[in-house]
Amino acid sequence: MKIFITGSSGFIGLHLSKNLLEKGHIVHGFDSMNAYYDVKLKKSRYQILKKYKNFSFTKGKLENQKILRKSILRFKPKIIIHLAAQAGVRYSIKNPRTYLDSNIIGTYNIIEFAKKANVKHLLIASSSSVYGANKKIPFKETDKTDTQLSIYAATKKSTESLAHSYSNLWKLPITVMRFFTVYGPWGRPDMAYFKFAKKIISRKKIDIYNRGKMYRDYTYIDDIVDGINKLLNKTPLLKSTNSHKSSIAPFRIINMGNTKKVYLLDFIDTLEKEIGIKAIRNYMAMQKGDVKTTLSDTKLLKKITGYKPKTTYKVGIKNFLNWYFEYYKINSKNLPNKK
Ligand SMILES: NC(=O)c1ccc[n+]([C@@H]2O[C@H](COP(=O)([O-])OP(=O)(O)OC[C@H]3O[C@@H](n4cnc5c(N)ncnc54)[C@H](O)[C@@H]3O)[C@@H](O)[C@H]2O)c1
Repeated sequence: MKIFITGSSGFIGLHLSKNLLEKGHIVHGFDSMNAYYDVKLKKSRYQILKKYKNFSFTKGKLENQKILRKSILRFKPKIIIHLAAQAGVRYSIKNPRTYLDSNIIGTYNIIEFAKKANVKHLLIASSSSVYGANKKIPFKETDKTDTQLSIYAATKKSTESLAHSYSNLWKLPITVMRFFTVYGPWGRPDMAYFKFAKKIISRKKIDIYNRGKMYRDYTYIDDIVDGINKLLNKTPLLKSTNSHKSSIAPFRIINMGNTKKVYLLDFIDTLEKEIGIKAIRNYMAMQKGDVKTTLSDTKLLKKITGYKPKTTYKVGIKNFLNWYFEYYKINSKNLPNKK
């Protein structure tokens, strides 16, 4: 199948593209390689994908209609998986405009060209952060999502609405995937687990928000790749597979999480244990825009695809650290518990 993937040099984009290329699909990646975090890491991910004969790539911004239109309409994809976005809750507080441009205008452009290219299925990445201030857990796709706490979350919610309206007007099959804290090898340096690892190893203090009283549904990257794979051919044309029964559009919203709530301090304990160094802890107040708890209800995904996340956070952390030591050339044998 011909699959167009935006954000292919990103964390999730790398793993998903690699997996689909290995299965023999023809993949065209699209990424601006922006400097939100270490560009070297994005280049290294790109180098991995470049080795596959069935991979081609366009460097460009989603906001640039000309370049985006050309690369989609020339490639003629059957499926588009739209992962590129300005991610991160904290950065959005100081840089809101970047989020409006990349996430809202960018997604609008993708939907427009998906419609022009007559794709069979458009899958769009959203986030558990759209559940915002909701108290009821686990979060279910049909819960109200009216109280986003950050600009990032607000832009994700906006793209969901935009996608639904397009799907309704033009009968464009769209699946919106709400990911829950994705982590693993080749991960994002701006995310807490990555920063913690880096700082623990270099014996710098780590900032722990809300004094650690936070819970996250941490989802290992392989489970996300598996979930997306399982959805590719499940276009939301059948009403029974849609999330919102009142909708007449071929549209669904789907949670993708691990369905386990992990206490932040337990996550840090495991990192410390695996690295073999005690963290220097700096307990802080709640960070603006953050949510205290996330937990997914993935019954709909399970019903449609049989999805069952397999990786516990303890195994996931080990895998992440093995990659981290290798990529940053840290001799893990020299760390205390590895002797
Ligand atoms: N990682 C998570 O925990 C998580 C959780 C929920 C949702 N998501 C969503 O999943 C998607 C992928 O996330 P990720 O963790 O791989 O992030 P990432 O930042 O590693 O990857 C995003 C990629 O998109 C590219 N990009 C950003 N803005 C662009 C633009 N305007 N034009 C072209 N390319 C652009 C970046 O260069 C980057 O390589 C995003 O939509 C994100 O919001 C991620």
